Amino acid sequence: MQIVVGVTGGIAAYKAAEIVRRLIKAGHEVQVVMTEGAKAFVMPMTFQALSGRPVRDALLDPQAEQGMGHIELARWADLILIAPASANCLARLAAGMADDLLTTVVLASRAPLYIAPAMNQVMWESPLTARNVRQLSEVRGNVTVLGPDQGEQACGDVGPGRLLEPDALVEQLLALNSPGAAARSADMDMRGLTVVITSGPTRERLDPVRYLSNDSSGKMGFALAAAAQTRGAKVILVAGPVHLPTPAGVSRMDIESAREMQEAVMSVISAADIFIGAAAVADFRPVLSQSQKIKKSGDQTLELKLEQNPDILAGVAALDNAPFTVGFAAETQNLETYARDKLTRKRLRMIIGNNVSRADIGFNSEYNEVLVITPSSTTPIDRQLKSELAGVLMDQIMREFNALSRSSG
Ligand code: C5P
Repeated sequence: MQIVVGVTGGIAAYKAAEIVRRLIKAGHEVQVVMTEGAKAFVMPMTFQALSGRPVRDALLDPQAEQGMGHIELARWADLILIAPASANCLARLAAGMADDLLTTVVLASRAPLYIAPAMNQVMWESPLTARNVRQLSEVRGNVTVLGPDQGEQACGDVGPGRLLEPDALVEQLLALNSPGAAARSADMDMRGLTVVITSGPTRERLDPVRYLSNDSSGKMGFALAAAAQTRGAKVILVAGPVHLPTPAGVSRMDIESAREMQEAVMSVISAADIFIGAAAVADFRPVLSQSQKIKKSGDQTLELKLEQNPDILAGVAALDNAPFTVGFAAETQNLETYARDKLTRKRLRMIIGNNVSRADIGFNSEYNEVLVITPSSTTPIDRQLKSELAGVLMDQIMREFNALSRSSG
């Protein structure tokens, strides 16, 4: 592909060098366009060396206008990626301004536009920035927001606003533009459906600074949310504490404990056609959660008393108007037997069993290998990236969902 990479002024501009390197390595042609602000952070020569093309930065550049002027550049682009996209750049794009080369190229192009915001968390959460992003997507169309990530920021704040890591950003960008993605989004077979997905671990508080939890990374649930959204579904993702950016176009509800997850799920479940429980919900919580930090006493032991959490998945499946309900079974042995037992006990339509005793798949890995089990079938699915597996699982879910809809008239 021919990709225009716009780099705007922010401390994350240095990460754009790695993004360009990865795109070139993946066989794409890259033309970097820098704003004035970006040049205060990174030397244009860096991008020239990586992309093999002189950086473009001036709207009225007599030399460039003789060859590939801004309109030709806009036509040349198969897609435009702006990374990092500053708050100022988003505001100028939303306003339709064309007072430098980057904004002019965006305005003059109908190519898909990908923006990877990076800014201080308060700036990202400002209603003005939120309005600008919304307006840009709604009015221009063909806009995908990649990230931002959560975490520690250059300014010392912690929160949403970090540029996605270059490897994750390039992976998402290329996955969204792969032939498979085009074919999948072309049929948009989930348009009109609402999907509720739980993902990540839960935390069960012992006191203000301690909790019980598990190793779930949330990657599988987030990949499923992205896959359903790409196929046209309205997706609500109920997420435990994880370090993952919200997939573009997905509504996210952040929770901490199993009871909060249950409350969030139940508040939206009446709208759901499909429910996927991919979260690793803690089975037990402390009977008493102390409001102050537990102190060491003279005793050598501390007894914890735990009580059972509600089973969210079984609760949804037991509802009168239950959506098509899909569970996950993480097992360390007897995968098929245990998973099928859960399918029956929790009255599910489908369960996806994975072996969590292996280090090369499952919890925290980028990969997974699963068994898809329904009341009448067992289908093994080969080891593959969770992002790809999500598409395959969605195919299986839709096949069963459609078969059931047809049989129930
Ligand atoms: O019984 P087990 O916890 O192994 O079942 C796993 C499946 O049930 C997963 O889909 C998980 O999201 C869901 N679950 C739940 N609420 C719980 C426990 C598990 O929704 N309290």
